[in-house]
Amino acid sequence: MRHSPHFTCQDSQILLTSHQPLATSHLMDSWTAPLDHLAPVYAQWALDVVDASGVHLHTSDGRRVLDLYGGHAVAALGYSHPRLLAALEQQARSLIFQSNAVPLAVRARAATRLTRFAGLGLNTAFFVSTGAEANENALKLALKQTGRRKVVAVEGSFHGRTAAAGAVTWGAAQKWYGFPQPPFEVEFVPRGDLDAVRRIVDDATAAVIVEPVQGVGGALDLGADFLGALRASCTERGSLLIFDEVQCGMGRTGFPFAANLYGIAPDMITTAKALGAGFPCAALLMTDHVARRLKTDDLGTTFGGGPMACAMIETVVDIIESEGLLTNVRELSRQIRETCVVGPVVATQGAGFLLGLRTRRPAKDVQRELLERHDILTGTSGDPNVVRILAPFVLESQHVDALHTALASLPS
Ligand SMILES: Cc1ncc(COP(=O)(O)O)c(C=O)c1O
Repeated sequence: MRHSPHFTCQDSQILLTSHQPLATSHLMDSWTAPLDHLAPVYAQWALDVVDASGVHLHTSDGRRVLDLYGGHAVAALGYSHPRLLAALEQQARSLIFQSNAVPLAVRARAATRLTRFAGLGLNTAFFVSTGAEANENALKLALKQTGRRKVVAVEGSFHGRTAAAGAVTWGAAQKWYGFPQPPFEVEFVPRGDLDAVRRIVDDATAAVIVEPVQGVGGALDLGADFLGALRASCTERGSLLIFDEVQCGMGRTGFPFAANLYGIAPDMITTAKALGAGFPCAALLMTDHVARRLKTDDLGTTFGGGPMACAMIETVVDIIESEGLLTNVRELSRQIRETCVVGPVVATQGAGFLLGLRTRRPAKDVQRELLERHDILTGTSGDPNVVRILAPFVLESQHVDALHTALASLPS
């Protein structure tokens, strides 16, 4: 890992002398901006990526790195997929942007395609730009439509860094939540605790928000029993069930959504990441009983539902379906589970290509060794003993073989 470089930067000297007047506090501040002028908030891998194709990243020092992490689960179709590039170029040439004030055929096609892909009665889509924004809107709708004040979330959850999404993210208050108070009451239920579900989801609960397969929390599949209990309690109490499928949705489990994998229909699904396969976009999918209560101006956004994003969404669904990628994810996930419990790996968890490799040694060491010795990029997670695999759906069996060989060669 390296951190953004800091040094006494010529550019910031120029800025300081050319902008008048300056507050005294600025003049006395000895801090100077990082060399790259980017906010120094990210730890970064020592990996100078210049371009990529298929499932490989290419670096300035000539390495060809097998990418099993996909930029936090985004690059679901790998890199330079010809149909994705063609759709991107065609849409850019035709119409690069118009807002939701203008009806667009490509937007309607994307919504139709996406809601059919999801099934489960989630017939209406509201397009936004990020996962957190999708969650923010889902929570807002639930609180408004039920008139209640409480949201139930699950231990280990990650839902984003905005006010509402951060409020339902496990541990955010201790780590980075910068707001003085959450915008609603929040209660967390322990993973797998069915009694706690029945106790905590009550008549004050507007919504339960849950990642059916937790991502940041450790590629952890919460299972049909627990998710079923959440569904049952929500139905009994009149609360809305929100599946946050920002990371686990859009084919990553080998099913359109984890909701399809478990056969459990939530009231809303939020999704992003793989949705645009690299183009920033997100969506909130709703059942009819949620959508029918929407009025003009209840929700809004500038960028969400833009034509570029919608062309990507339409094309991503088309590629997943026409290239049989759900089957590919399921089969290769099985191959990983069957062959990769070797070397430092003691077990697997998760679903599809949101897989956790449980390691005997710290996951960050295993991840570093895979990258440094074998040119294989994987991720870590909130669980210090889980290496996270977020492979592209176009992965091939030979790549799983390479992972197996690499893991088998590492010290256990
Ligand atoms: C499950 C889940 N929800 C929400 C988010 C937030 O998405 P974004 O970073 O696009 O706001 C993430 C991001 O990692 C996520 O994994």
